[in-house]
Amino acid sequence: MEINEILNWRYATKKMTGAKVPQNKIDIIVKSVQLAPTSVGFQAFHLYVIEDEALRQTIFEKSCQQTQVVEGSHLLVFAARTEITDAEVDNYMNLVATTRNIPVESLNGYKGMVASFKQKTEQEYFDWTARQAYIAFSFALVAAAVENVDATPIEGFSPPVMDEILGLKEKGLKSVVLIALGYRDEANDKLAHAPKVRKPISELVTVI
Ligand SMILES: Cc1cc2nc3c(=O)[nH]c(=O)nc-3n(C[C@H](O)[C@H](O)[C@H](O)COP(=O)(O)O)c2cc1C
Repeated sequence: MEINEILNWRYATKKMTGAKVPQNKIDIIVKSVQLAPTSVGFQAFHLYVIEDEALRQTIFEKSCQQTQVVEGSHLLVFAARTEITDAEVDNYMNLVATTRNIPVESLNGYKGMVASFKQKTEQEYFDWTARQAYIAFSFALVAAAVENVDATPIEGFSPPVMDEILGLKEKGLKSVVLIALGYRDEANDKLAHAPKVRKPISELVTVI
């Protein structure tokens, strides 16, 4: 299938069967998150892959009353950093230097650019890191579709409650968006065969 056929196949699944997504497919979806581009390459977010049924049940009851959380087999929680630390910047520069086999001092200009994010307010920094998390979230949605795995993108949850459940505040993180992964219940999901609703390209796109 070419990419647009795959993207037409995917839809925001409302009912899932409970069948388990195999680990090799989860690994591919997680890899797509790792490979997603981020501004200055800093990857200022963290992904939680929640398979544990009891934890997903707690999330369903307390933070996100959408059945896909428990009818799927895995829940992805994208959490974005709320602060930037010197240690984080140093670790990243060391990663670049060792990966590319270059002296870390040669990265001083780059380091200054990354460190300049410390001038942002906490809200400004989180707005930026959350945007990076959303890019990775999109990659995961596409990777899931390529792997024939159904996915529901979810913003309809309580981030403060999720943060409490996962202990994110102490880690300098806030949850931003979720993806439930599983398999569509074709017989009971009324959207499984519904045509996609999209604006015409002529309205959505201007070619100049
Ligand atoms: C950021 C984002 C948040 C969304 N949140 C929810 C949600 O909380 N629950 C849900 O059932 N669908 C959610 N959706 C799915 C959209 O409603 C859906 O993608 C849109 O209507 C287009 O339909 P399609 O994805 O099936 O083509 C969300 C989608 C995005 C991109």
